[in-house]
Amino acid sequence: WAKGIQRLDTVGSTQEEAKLLAEGGAMEGTTVMAEAQTGGRGRMGRKWHSPHGKGIWMSLVLRPALPLALTPQLTLLAGVAVCTAIREVTGVPAGIKWPNDLLAGGRKICGILLESSLREGGLHYCIAGIGIAANLTEEDYPEELRGIGTSLLIEGGGIPVDRTRLAEAVLEELEYLYHVYMEQGFQPVKELWESMSVTLGRQVYVNTPQGRTEATAVGLSDNGGLLLRNESGEVVSVLSGEIEMF
Ligand code: BTN
Repeated sequence: WAKGIQRLDTVGSTQEEAKLLAEGGAMEGTTVMAEAQTGGRGRMGRKWHSPHGKGIWMSLVLRPALPLALTPQLTLLAGVAVCTAIREVTGVPAGIKWPNDLLAGGRKICGILLESSLREGGLHYCIAGIGIAANLTEEDYPEELRGIGTSLLIEGGGIPVDRTRLAEAVLEELEYLYHVYMEQGFQPVKELWESMSVTLGRQVYVNTPQGRTEATAVGLSDNGGLLLRNESGEVVSVLSGEIEMF
């Protein structure tokens, strides 16, 4: 996959570029990477700050033969692959906050957005969007993001990251783990995710469309949801949403 990266300068969002390629029949693993995004998107309709030449803003086409209900597993797989590549290439001790935010020093270093396109009721393709704050300085962040976002440069003691090398390592990890997943199922991915998680064992607030509750994160369910023990001792699974750790 690392060999097929298409590099662009400024785009609206690499998600849209990758979608166009997927609609045109692009092969699995086709990747678009941009220097800057003017309309970078995050989860839950948020904007994704993507300044020029500072990060890895990329999207890749996946065509998994999977039921739609299992796509949350792919999201977790992407988090594991990126976390592994970051640790290997930069030595920054990144960890995963459920479902797939990567944190370092308690702040966010990477976000992943998995979008699925459906056809005749089934999965047609997925676009996995990966945003890694590689070489952003504190000043590159708008005021409102400063306490929330960090970068590999900041967490790595001021050493700039070779973005090409890291992007290639991410794609190599993703390709490897994706094949493991297709052959052996979710269990190996789940174990890796659990070993890299900064969420498990923690008290969390869970924000879902149903409201906000307090619970302890105790594990992952088989389809990639987060298992939570609520105040009455009951274990429930949350498939999507957001948690706050405290
Ligand atoms: C999140 O944490 O909310 C997910 C952020 C995903 C950002 C990446 S950057 C490359 C790709 N293009 C986008 O517009 N979004 C994703």
